[in-house]
Amino acid sequence: MIKKPGHRNSLNSIVAFLGLLCFGSLAGADEVIETTAEYSKGANQCMSCHREGRDMAAHEIFLTPMGISGAANSPFADGNHDCETCHGPSAAHRKKNKDGTRPSPSIAFNETNTAAEQNEVCMGCHNDGNMIHWTGSMHEEEEVACVNCHAVHAARDPVMDKITQQEVCFACHARTRADTFKPSSHPLRFGSMTCSDCHNPHAGQNDSLLVRSTVNDTCYLCHAEKRGPFLWEHAPVSEDCTLCHNAHGSNHAGILKQRSPLLCQQCHSSAGHPATAYTSESAENSFQQRFLLIRSCGNCHAQVHGSNHPSGVTITR
Ligand code: HEC
Ligand code: HEC
Ligand code: HEC
Ligand code: HEC
Ligand code: HEC
Ligand code: HEC
Ligand code: HEC
Ligand code: HEC
Ligand code: HEC
Ligand code: HEC
Repeated sequence: MIKKPGHRNSLNSIVAFLGLLCFGSLAGADEVIETTAEYSKGANQCMSCHREGRDMAAHEIFLTPMGISGAANSPFADGNHDCETCHGPSAAHRKKNKDGTRPSPSIAFNETNTAAEQNEVCMGCHNDGNMIHWTGSMHEEEEVACVNCHAVHAARDPVMDKITQQEVCFACHARTRADTFKPSSHPLRFGSMTCSDCHNPHAGQNDSLLVRSTVNDTCYLCHAEKRGPFLWEHAPVSEDCTLCHNAHGSNHAGILKQRSPLLCQQCHSSAGHPATAYTSESAENSFQQRFLLIRSCGNCHAQVHGSNHPSGVTITR
């Protein structure tokens, strides 16, 4: 009952052989072979129905790096199974059942397959240095599939494009989306930067999937001047930028977590000098108002990220 082996049938025979090894003593060989999915003979057989202009057209994959048959180890390279390298042996899918339904391809990349089953296909070829930390990463553990982010049949995969990437992420990260639309934010919504400037979606060894080992090292990628060294450091700045700033967006200018003076008073005692902002005269007294108005504490402590002035100990200059 083994179908005439085509040149792409070697894996198929191995599957059948393993099947025999496992079940040969329990069931007749015929039954085993009947349940073994068959490969078609190449993409043409699929493209007769999935060509351009049809519903579920699949042709755009030939416009992507993966569709180049000449590329080493492309699904379409000699020795692989074209479409069925990913979709699994699917000869049965080409014909309707007697009741008019159509058997699914072995791997349809929809709800009939778990994320792990889908990812195994991709990792078969992409298990390289870039993917070392994928296994066990938060996305993997939350059962996010490669194809929740990647559209392999699109000529331009939206997640690979700076402008469109965030829409892919926002499908799941609604809170981050809301943050980037706040009055003060990193210019994500204008497409001049994107999530993967700060995050490695495939995960690395860093917290929050960051591209560098600490929050600050990630920020210094673009805000190098904040690294210093400063003669007079402001301790929280070299510790963690997110003590004062949100990473994505905020309702307060400068992507700050809080307005000054409250921002500063989270750490600095409101007794004594800083507290003068709240004395009873402060509303009328123009001297006191400089603690509250415009940049508040920053009116005098302008070098909030650190000072290189010999007498900048109180980061006023
Ligand atoms: C005779 C026409 C025909 C051929 C040949 C064909 N398909 Fe399909 N395919 C369909 C139709 C029609 C659908 C729509 C869903 C359905 O009717 O089950 C479909 C759906 C699909 C789907 C979507 C998943 C699903 O189950 O809905 C995938 C993936 C797919 N085909 C892959 C393939 C691959 C790979 C090949 C080649 C091995 C192939 N098709 C050959 C007709 C065909
Ligand atoms: C690199 C792996 C891969 C290869 C190779 C591949 N596919 Fe797919 N295919 C997918 C994934 C993943 C999906 C799920 C939807 C998506 O990500 O675009 C899919 C979806 C489909 C669908 C359903 C599309 C829809 O609109 O719902 C069809 C039909 C299909 N593929 C046919 C084919 C055919 C025909 C070929 C060969 C020309 C092929 N695929 C080659 C991975 C692949
Ligand atoms: C048979 C091997 C093979 C399989 C299976 C495979 N790929 Fe690929 N993939 C390649 C090759 C070869 C390239 C092109 C060279 C490269 O970028 O490494 C590629 C490139 C890519 C790229 C980069 C495209 C670009 O625009 O630069 C993405 C993203 C990708 N694959 C995702 C996937 C996903 C998701 C799956 C599973 C649905 C998958 N691949 C399955 C071999 C494979
Ligand atoms: C959370 C979304 C997301 C998931 C899940 C995801 N990727 Fe990616 N992938 C991306 C983004 C974004 C890029 C572009 C990276 C960049 O611009 O630096 C990318 C790039 C790639 C590339 C191009 C080469 C590279 O590493 O830059 C390949 C190949 C790839 N992904 C394969 C996969 C495979 C295989 C899986 C599943 C194991 C997967 N991806 C899961 C978002 C994702
Ligand atoms: C400027 C760098 C930067 C950019 C750009 C960025 N992030 Fe983040 N993201 C961070 C940092 C830093 C954290 C850790 C926050 C913390 O520790 O307080 C984080 C945390 C997260 C978290 C964890 C939950 C949370 O809010 O703390 C998610 C989810 C997230 N980012 C998604 C995204 C998405 C989606 C995009 C693209 C729209 C994006 N990020 C763009 C720096 C960035
Ligand atoms: C299919 C849904 C989905 C998509 C798409 C997705 N994520 Fe996630 N992501 C999750 C889930 C689920 C978590 C687990 C924590 C949570 O619920 O926020 C997570 C967590 C994260 C975290 C926090 C990791 C940590 O260690 O705290 C970051 C950062 C993140 N995603 C970035 C991205 C980026 C960037 C993209 C787009 C390239 C993206 N995600 C696309 C589902 C998704
Ligand atoms: C990929 C580059 C990049 C990285 C990494 C980056 N930023 Fe930015 N940042 C920008 C750009 C671009 C702007 C907008 C500058 C402008 O509008 O002139 C900006 C603006 C800002 C602003 C000023 C916003 C305002 O409205 O004045 C703050 C604060 C800021 N970033 C903090 C951070 C923090 C904190 C981190 C680390 C979590 C970080 N940035 C990482 C590129 C980056
Ligand atoms: C102690 C609180 C605090 C910490 C910590 C902090 N900042 Fe700021 N940052 C501010 C304040 C306040 C402003 C607004 C200053 C103003 O009004 O000019 C600001 C403004 C900025 C700006 C926009 C104006 C400018 O000076 O370029 C950037 C960019 C910035 N911060 C980056 C960072 C980075 C990167 C880190 C971490 C290395 C960091 N900040 C840590 C309080 C802080
Ligand atoms: C997360 C806590 C934190 C926040 C928020 C914070 N600071 Fe600081 N600040 C410190 C620490 C810690 C020191 C170092 C104190 C020391 O060395 O005794 C310091 C030092 C200072 C000094 C120098 C004091 C001295 O005796 O040398 C000034 C001035 C100052 N901060 C002003 C501000 C202003 C203005 C803001 C608001 C923009 C602010 N700080 C926000 C923690 C913070
Ligand atoms: C009108 C200018 C001015 C404003 C506004 C101002 N400061 Fe100061 N601050 C100073 C000067 C000047 C010193 C140095 C005083 C000294 O050396 O005795 C100082 C010292 C400090 C110190 C060092 C420790 C101490 O108590 O001597 C801290 C902390 C501080 N200011 C925090 C703040 C905070 C928080 C705010 C906002 C509520 C603020 N300052 C507003 C001028 C100002």
